[in-house]
Amino acid sequence: MDWKIRKAECGLKGELEVPPDKSISHRAVILGSIARGISTVKNFLSGEDCLRTLKAFRDMGVQIESAGGNIVVHGKGLSGLKRPSEALYAGNSGTTMRIMSGVAVGQNFDTRIEGDRSLTARPMGRIIEPLSQMGAEIVSADGKGHAPLEIKGGKKLTGINYVMPVASAQVKSCVLIAGLFASGKTTVQEPFRSRDHTERMMEFLNADIKRKGLTTEISGAKELTPKDIKIPADISSAAFFIIAALLIKDSRIVLRNVGLNPTRMGLINVLGRMGAKIRVFDPKDEVEPSGNLEIVYSELKAVVIEKEEIPLLIDEVPILVLAALRAEGETIVRGISELKVKETDRVKTIRENFRRLGAEIKESGEDMVISGNLKKLHGAEFDSFGDHRIAMTLAVAGLLATGESKIKDTECVQTSYPGFMEDLEKLRGI
Ligand code: S3P
Repeated sequence: MDWKIRKAECGLKGELEVPPDKSISHRAVILGSIARGISTVKNFLSGEDCLRTLKAFRDMGVQIESAGGNIVVHGKGLSGLKRPSEALYAGNSGTTMRIMSGVAVGQNFDTRIEGDRSLTARPMGRIIEPLSQMGAEIVSADGKGHAPLEIKGGKKLTGINYVMPVASAQVKSCVLIAGLFASGKTTVQEPFRSRDHTERMMEFLNADIKRKGLTTEISGAKELTPKDIKIPADISSAAFFIIAALLIKDSRIVLRNVGLNPTRMGLINVLGRMGAKIRVFDPKDEVEPSGNLEIVYSELKAVVIEKEEIPLLIDEVPILVLAALRAEGETIVRGISELKVKETDRVKTIRENFRRLGAEIKESGEDMVISGNLKKLHGAEFDSFGDHRIAMTLAVAGLLATGESKIKDTECVQTSYPGFMEDLEKLRGI
């Protein structure tokens, strides 16, 4: 499916709630399935990625009912999952494959996990390495750390101290979850802070978990307590409308119930430094903090985004680059290597598409350098390359570009934001 988008002639207006958080939805299914008893998950994201996780746990014998945006997970406890009759399929979802591997290594049956073309090209060595240190046996199909993964069951796992070479919440979560099935304690130390949804949910479900600075320790063999889990709206999905409203004159919008976990606030913090007018109101301090955001058109100035900040806004970089093009001055994004191993190589797919817009984004070592003050963006034919966040970034770019733009290959938005175009049209008053 292609999208056709015309330049916005007037500001975005109105109020909406974007879909539920993808990362938290995955974790609710995964941890709910291995807790012992019934958990109700309120506001679950029925996007393709999370549905892959849900289906995989159903395939392993977990009863999961879904009704009106909520799901009820009949958790089986740490040792109650069943051997799936065929390979588990993670589709496009790195979170499904990586975190689910942490569960699979603790089972007494063999599991095979497959993914689509994009996922099959993404690095899985980063989970194979620590899981193998714990005593797991995982074979990657090509012997080079790529999916499909064959995971041997019935292995005795032992806790490890793992110092992570990259800041990745997926890797951290995978190791911590494997730690639930291991004897003794497992500690994970991150180089920089990444999203901590797994830690928060584990604490909430009464896991034996301790956190100190960048180190998290989990003790194995303790069953999780099922609970009601509430999921706020996804700040990574909100990001597209936040930036659209900041860049289109006369815009004023309100986004309700947005997840405001400090480890996901990188975008809001960076935009604050850029001079964005964003007001947080009615904050709720719960397991996962949330609040409403009011966003008003703003004149932005360039910033330097440091390497340590990247994990806190990793999925928002494509849309931030668009904001940087319009900002006064030169923006530098440091430490971009993790962007190259997402659903696409996002440095490449951003540069390729933005060139068509009339913007030359420079790559210099570990930095991306964006010259701002670009008043005129050219409508063109763009390609998402099957990456949902690139597709939605280009839709916002199309609102700023002259004439009509076409975006190819937009089915991928189903992974995180079914209904994106309808919501965009609502804010445009179309
Ligand atoms: C995610 C973590 C991030 C992010 C991804 C979701 C998660 O990946 O890019 O969209 O749910 O843990 P990494 O942990 O690999 O950086």
